[in-house]
Amino acid sequence: MGKLIALHSYKGGTGKSYLSVNLATIYALQGKKVCLLDLDFRAPTLQVVFEPKGLKCFLNSVLEGTISVRDCLLDCSDKLENKGKLYVGFADFSTEAIREMVTKGKKWEIEALQRIYKMRKELLDDMKFDIVLVDTSPGIQYLSINAVVASDVAVVVSTLDDADIMGTSKMLKELYETFEKETAIVINKAIGGAEWADPDKNKVVEDLQNKYKEAVIGILPCFCEVGRLKRGDLFVLQNPKHPFTEMLRVIAAKLDLF
Ligand SMILES: Nc1ncnc2c1ncn2[C@@H]1O[C@H](COP(=O)(O)OP(=O)(O)O)[C@@H](O)[C@H]1O
Ligand SMILES: [Mg+2]
Repeated sequence: MGKLIALHSYKGGTGKSYLSVNLATIYALQGKKVCLLDLDFRAPTLQVVFEPKGLKCFLNSVLEGTISVRDCLLDCSDKLENKGKLYVGFADFSTEAIREMVTKGKKWEIEALQRIYKMRKELLDDMKFDIVLVDTSPGIQYLSINAVVASDVAVVVSTLDDADIMGTSKMLKELYETFEKETAIVINKAIGGAEWADPDKNKVVEDLQNKYKEAVIGILPCFCEVGRLKRGDLFVLQNPKHPFTEMLRVIAAKLDLF
């Protein structure tokens, strides 16, 4: 039985999209049948990584209930040099669509949640995906939370920025605990280990590990070469021996155990 993994965060720019693309790549290279969905309707990103050429529809229509998810997926396995099976669903990146999504009300969001459940069933039960990775919008609005609610595991990505840590803790307490979600935490862009590192930041990591224990499944340092790469490049594919790739493989293995 496959599983749906949602990547979420309190603030933007923590690395959700980047990690979801690279985790999807890792799983696909392992021989799993992988589906990667862009449900960040406020800041769609996957169209920059994968060329949505020949795409029939966006996931927006699936949430509207006008189309089924299987019709909106694009086989992007060629991006992995056909070393794995990766299907991608895109969010509409037109200005009108982004504007329209933020005007949706609570009633629509609740309907959208039902459709996300339906989508989940179709992908896991009918299409037999091993892994469905969902990239979400940051924050606690319904549109972001919906995918988290429908997930088997929610991965919260946080940096060590104070505002991020504070928001993440609040979100975990007020939201994730309420939904009794299986939660994993990834600290990204961490600076530590070097003698010049801010000792206070190391303390923050220590506190987080004490507080959330095994839920903290990875601490990824900030790698300049990661930030410098073009979006269209799949880091883990091109750099199989890089520490970032090795660390992400460990995270992927831990997520497999949930
Ligand atoms: N560990 C890292 N080290 C350096 N840069 C990173 C790292 N993780 C992500 N980035 C960079 O951070 C930026 C924001 O990442 P992104 O995935 O778009 O964030 P989000 O989807 O959470 O808004 C991207 O330019 C990405 O390349
Ligand atoms: Mg993103």
